[in-house]
Amino acid sequence: MTNKHARQPVTKAVVPAAGLGTRFLPATKATPKEMLPVVDKPAIQYVVEEAAAAGLSDILMVTGRNKRALEDHFDRAYELEELLSRKGDQERLRRVQESVQLASMHYVRQGDPKGLGHAVSVAEQHVAGQPFAVLLGDDLIDPRDPLLARMIEVQQELGGSVVALMEVDPAQIHLYGCAAVKSTELGEDVFQVTDLVEKPDTADAPSNYAVIGRYVLDPTVFDVLRETPPGRGGEIQLTDALRELATRDESDGGPVHGVLFKGRRYDTGDRADYLRAIVRLAAERDDLGPEFRTWLRQFVSTEMQG
Ligand code: G1P
Repeated sequence: MTNKHARQPVTKAVVPAAGLGTRFLPATKATPKEMLPVVDKPAIQYVVEEAAAAGLSDILMVTGRNKRALEDHFDRAYELEELLSRKGDQERLRRVQESVQLASMHYVRQGDPKGLGHAVSVAEQHVAGQPFAVLLGDDLIDPRDPLLARMIEVQQELGGSVVALMEVDPAQIHLYGCAAVKSTELGEDVFQVTDLVEKPDTADAPSNYAVIGRYVLDPTVFDVLRETPPGRGGEIQLTDALRELATRDESDGGPVHGVLFKGRRYDTGDRADYLRAIVRLAAERDDLGPEFRTWLRQFVSTEMQG
């Protein structure tokens, strides 16, 4: 019997960022979708901040062609820093340096775009046999509603892998991985995952629990991914590998648990949700919020009359 004290700690995060971002063309023609600003920070910085806040200080980004801006963003910008420093603009200097100090960043290229499961599999060497987190850049979790720390806690308690679940309207389940679950004794927010299906039709969905883009994975997932054939959309699906792990016990790399998330999440991969995220986060900011809210109120009341 293993106990939580014998478990290896989770210290590394993998962030798949090789996608083409076709939903945002032409904005993403020459700019990675991860660099699109959410208020005044690129979307990817929120994700790296989230990992760092959960104690993960080693981040591997899985990138591809045209993603150089990502590396530059998390690196020093000497000329800019020098200029701001000469001007005595400490506030902007701090903001420019912030992204560099968050975590130790590493990069690997995915090569062929063969799906999320494949993107995760190229992290194998870096992860080196430890449980690790995966954060998908399209999902932005509000920093006031921490999720990853709870998932890591559950993984340390129960072993195996942990996915994040969110209840969605059944009409939306075809956009997500979907989990069949049963309850556990660990709390109302923790389930055992008994089955997983990638993007089912509403009629075939085993529940309305959608898998959202945060995972804590046992490294056995790499062995399973090697054996996982292309699934939905002809891609190697992480959901399919987790489905296999859900049938196993801990000595074999399983099981899979789900942490139910009830906080605020924005899908920045979707244009309408991306706009909602910007409006909401801007309205709540101390610096921009007061003026923006006044304008927004006027704008909405004028629109309602029109
Ligand atoms: C991926 C996963 C899916 C998951 C979703 C969360 O899909 O394959 O299981 O529910 O992320 O955002 P994608 O949205 O990349 O197509």
